Amino acid sequence: MNQAEIWNLHMNVPDYVKHQRLIAWVAEVAALTQARDVYWCDGSQEEYDRLCQQLVQKGTFKKLNPELRANSYLACSDPTDVARVEDRTFICSARKEDAGPTNNWTDPAEMRSLLQTCEQALFKGSMRGRTLYVVPFSMGPLGSHIAHIGVELSDSSYVAINMRLMTRMGRAVIDLLGEDHDFVPCVHTVGAPLEAGQADVKWPCNATKYIVQYPETHEIWSYGSGYGGNALLGKKCFALRIASKMGLDQGWLAEHMLILGVTSPAGKKYHFAGAFPSACGKTNFSMLIPPAAFEGWKVTTIGDDIAWIKPGADGRLYAINPEAGYFGVAPGTNNLTNANCMASLHKDVIFTNVALTDDGDVWWEGLTDTPPAHLIDWQGKDWTPAIGKETGAKAAHANARFTVSAGNNPALDADWDDPEGVPIDAFIFGGRRSTTVPLVTEARNWNEGVYMAATMGSETTAAAAGQQGVVRRDPFAMLPFVGYNMSDYFQHWLDMGKKLQALCEKSGAKLPKIYCVNWFRKGSNGKFVWPGYGENMRVLKWMLDRVEGQGHGDDHAFGVTPRYEDINWNGMDFTPAQFETATRIDKADWTAEMGLHAALFEQLAYHLPPELPALKAKMELRLAAE
Ligand code: OXD
Ligand code: MN
Repeated sequence: MNQAEIWNLHMNVPDYVKHQRLIAWVAEVAALTQARDVYWCDGSQEEYDRLCQQLVQKGTFKKLNPELRANSYLACSDPTDVARVEDRTFICSARKEDAGPTNNWTDPAEMRSLLQTCEQALFKGSMRGRTLYVVPFSMGPLGSHIAHIGVELSDSSYVAINMRLMTRMGRAVIDLLGEDHDFVPCVHTVGAPLEAGQADVKWPCNATKYIVQYPETHEIWSYGSGYGGNALLGKKCFALRIASKMGLDQGWLAEHMLILGVTSPAGKKYHFAGAFPSACGKTNFSMLIPPAAFEGWKVTTIGDDIAWIKPGADGRLYAINPEAGYFGVAPGTNNLTNANCMASLHKDVIFTNVALTDDGDVWWEGLTDTPPAHLIDWQGKDWTPAIGKETGAKAAHANARFTVSAGNNPALDADWDDPEGVPIDAFIFGGRRSTTVPLVTEARNWNEGVYMAATMGSETTAAAAGQQGVVRRDPFAMLPFVGYNMSDYFQHWLDMGKKLQALCEKSGAKLPKIYCVNWFRKGSNGKFVWPGYGENMRVLKWMLDRVEGQGHGDDHAFGVTPRYEDINWNGMDFTPAQFETATRIDKADWTAEMGLHAALFEQLAYHLPPELPALKAKMELRLAAE
């Protein structure tokens, strides 16, 4: 046996791995972190079941009643590790101005020292006593020209099995990597080394957390959290932060968007891509069931969270879902809000931080009107409706999640795995706003659409740690996810519009339309005015009428909004007065809103495209005159 063969043996490298650069990198990280051993994931069902079983033995997983939830598990996290940590997320570009004012920045050399090289570097010995899992994954259909490959090294088997549901993971990706294909290296540790004889805890993590992206070298290093977007590095870290920078450099878009298909009764298919901030109903929207009055219309899911979008030679934009599963918010999900999702959750699901019923099933707030008489809450304590009432304690965490493969979704689009992607007819941008923003507005042109998206505000949710319900500007729903300077991102969208326009002029294709929606406006009684969910189909239909050049609306300072009579109300009791509450443009509210746009532009002054303040001035003039 030669030296290389002995080394490979220690590293447990399967013989099908031929990529020397990958092997050398895994060896380097194993040495740095002093992992106990190395395990290469093949992505098989046998491996998935085995790792789940090990987590059951360790107490991290509880196997649910197989008659109620076949092959499904519940994990409850450490109470301090329940959401993305935006204040611990860093974009370490060489120059601070390239991270921009909306990202935390640290000099890359300083960050590397802190994480990897200084005497007390956080990753040094961080996997002691633990297995290093090598998780090869493809973001996007295997071999698609829009897809990219990553390899995550993690000391968490919870991460490895979640990655199997969320991405195309395993040996097929190693085969694609061949001997020298590029990949995005992602390193993750829970930051909880085990010394000899030390017993493990159910959910190891560390109070110190770093979620670090190096956008120029396409590297990700994540320390201290085992949860969701902090730990499943294919999702927010790669598919948004790193990919947005790749898109800037290579001429495409990586967006926080669902993708859905709408098929008309005549069989014509349209595609929408929709950006909404975290926990604002993207999963529900992407699985929408049209109301009875829309007989013959079908909505199908391509993706529920992220879209990678490339311009075609014809000037149309083609989108893929880089993910292969859903990491969705459980609370609020039920048969009325999302029956397709509920149908997806019967088998092969990992639930995190929901409550456990006495018969071994799961429950969360909003699942049923009446909670069960007794539950074990997400922190392992007894919970009854009386305890909930008395203490205010929720049975499930507000950011409790399910992880499930896209294959479980009965509304999955037939083209969801098409390597060529699907052509986008319209973009939808929507924040959570109890006031000010109308139900739907169409931008008059691409640049006005970019303005709408760039100035979008939304009330914060439990998806990120920190205060909830505060309106913050969340441009393109990408505030926590753009891996470079936000103003350069705006410029990239404006440039994309110009490029598409030129291509469309040659091909005769049309630029996608752009809409701003708000499902969350409240009336004076504090209740939502718009019922949302399936009824959103009525708004989609108005958009499709517009795409077809047929629908009507009122032209106002910010774009075009339908009149009451422009929407199909068949089967729905919604009065003109309610519609007015959902769509009214209040001059005083909008004057205040424009002040917030001004503050955003001031914050983003460096490289802010001049088109945006120019559009603002134009809108303000028109608002004043109305
Ligand atoms: C998510 C998020 O998990 O946006 O999708 O936080
Ligand atoms: Mn998201």
